[in-house]
Parts: sequence; C-alpha cells; structure tokens
Amino acid sequence: MTRHVVTLALLLASPLAFAQDQGKALYTANCMACHGAKGDGNGPAAIALDPKPRSFSDAAFWEGKTNEDIKKVIKTGKPGTAMAPFPQLSDADVAALTTYLRTFEPKP
Ligand code: HEC
Repeated sequence: MTRHVVTLALLLASPLAFAQDQGKALYTANCMACHGAKGDGNGPAAIALDPKPRSFSDAAFWEGKTNEDIKKVIKTGKPGTAMAPFPQLSDADVAALTTYLRTFEPKP
C-alpha cells in the first residue's frame, strides 16, 4: 500500500525534480510518523516510543556520521528500539533518503 503511494508520487513528479522529491516522498511514506515532518523526532507516533525516534535536526547526531552508517541503520534497523529494518528499500531509495535526511542537519 505504502509502496503504491510512493510510486504514484514519483510518477507525478517532473523529471527534473525527480531525484530531490524521491527522498522526500520515501520519507513521508516510511519515516515521518516517527521522525516527524521537520525531522526532529516528534512525529505523531513518537509519543508512545522509548527511546524516542532520533532527531535529525540535532547537530550532535551528525557528528562523524557517514552515509554508510545511515544506510546500515535503514537496511538493518536498530535492535532494542522501534527503528525497524527497511529491506524493501533499494540502494537508490536509501541514497535518496539519506540526502533528504541531511537537509534537516542544522547549517552553521
Ligand atoms: C516506528 C517508528 C520509526 C519509524 C517508522 C522509523 N524510525 Fe528511525 N528510529 C526510530 C527510533 C525509536 C530510533 C532510535 C533512536 C535511538 O536510538 O535513540 C530511530 C533511529 C533512526 C536513525 C539513527 C540511528 C542511530 O544511529 O542512532 C536513523 C538514521 C533513522 N532512524 C532513520 C529512519 C528512516 C530513514 C526511516 C524511514 C525509512 C525511519 N527511521 C523510520 C523510530 C522509527
């Protein structure tokens, strides 16, 4: 179901905006409920979670984080937390998502 929504969003996107919008569409469909529209970890589902979803708008989170680190978490999840693995996402999906996650990083 989620997958169809993403595909539809992608089909409607113009070719130029495609790569940029792909990360946002994937985030909205798969991650926003927990990590929040602003990436601050305050999505509607976050209230019930312990530990809370990670805030991507926290500069400390990004310290020393590589794209490879992010990819690993998305593919395998984080045991002991509500962060589930997303094995259905392709490498291209994960790359687009990671680019989008980095837009939440505070700029100095
Ligand atoms: C069901 C709620 C939920 C959903 C949906 C979810 N996450 Fe998470 N996420 C969490 C929680 C909880 C953590 C753990 C926070 C912690 O360790 O303190 C986390 C942690 C993370 C981390 C940081 C891991 C680390 O190094 O500490 C990343 C990156 C991440 N999520 C990305 C995503 C992406 C991308 C998606 C969508 C594809 C997603 N999450 C969907 C709840 C969720």
